[in-house]
Amino acid sequence: MFPKNAEAALEHTRRKRELEIRLAMEGLADLLRRKGRLGHPDFESMEFGCGDGFQIPHLRRFGKAAASDLYRSARLDGLGELDFRQCGIERTLFERERFDLIYSNQVFQDIPETLLPAIRAEARRILKPGGLLAFTVPTPLWLVFRIPAQYLGTAQSLARRAQRRGHDRATPAIASPPDGAAQGVQGRDEGALAKALRVLLPSGYGAYPGFWEAARKYRTRSWISRFEAAGFSFLEAKPLLIYAPSEWPVVPTTARLNPLGICSSVLLSFTAGSPPRKPQAV
Ligand SMILES: C[S@@+](CC[C@H](N)C(=O)[O-])C[C@H]1O[C@@H](n2cnc3c(N)ncnc32)[C@H](O)[C@@H]1O
Repeated sequence: MFPKNAEAALEHTRRKRELEIRLAMEGLADLLRRKGRLGHPDFESMEFGCGDGFQIPHLRRFGKAAASDLYRSARLDGLGELDFRQCGIERTLFERERFDLIYSNQVFQDIPETLLPAIRAEARRILKPGGLLAFTVPTPLWLVFRIPAQYLGTAQSLARRAQRRGHDRATPAIASPPDGAAQGVQGRDEGALAKALRVLLPSGYGAYPGFWEAARKYRTRSWISRFEAAGFSFLEAKPLLIYAPSEWPVVPTTARLNPLGICSSVLLSFTAGSPPRKPQAV
């Protein structure tokens, strides 16, 4: 059931991403069709936080696609001609009223709240009037699944290490670092309680520490109210997949689960809304 080696795990991740983007694109196509924007000859989208560009070929099915990220991945070179700008979403350097759609995949959960007003202003500047802002984010279920997934990951890597040790013992070593060298400063300075917690509790982004804060922030309702408070008009939430953040099986949400909102990733769509009105002089 679980991938047996690194290549199989990579293939698993690729299939998971493929499934997620396919479902997201189905949701977007539906939305664009209803807004009468699907198949428009001058349709153009922009992916924000595009990473290695995995999503770009999918966005190109709607029309032209541009992209931006804080960093430029060398993999973007394989995508042919692409208008890529290395920048943050809060100041994209793209022309005003250029895009029908701003899309973003698994990025907003990492964006500081303080950037929301600047993002709203920038989205409104570069979107055509009535254009869409759509993004996928993890849900609290993803955080919950992360805990056993992390234990499983730790158990797997310990098993691999034990296997390697057995292999190393069977073959003569060339040179190995002194014991403890790999532990670094953290291992030396840590108190006993902190060390026990680090070993016993799952660690890393979103799980520990900061689990409850992340769980509150990841609620679909919370995304909607924060974006509405920042001037966006909510259109819809489409549940995408149920999966843990590791090599666990991935399940698309079904017609039965969708109304219940049971999912670990969700596509949220908004329009940028109208600019805040200047207070009237009395
Ligand atoms: C989890 S990765 C997702 C990458 C890609 N969207 C995908 O699905 O494979 C998050 C990406 O967002 C980018 N990012 C984070 N904060 C950003 C910001 N303020 N402006 C632009 N890109 C940002 C990171 O550089 C990174 O490539």
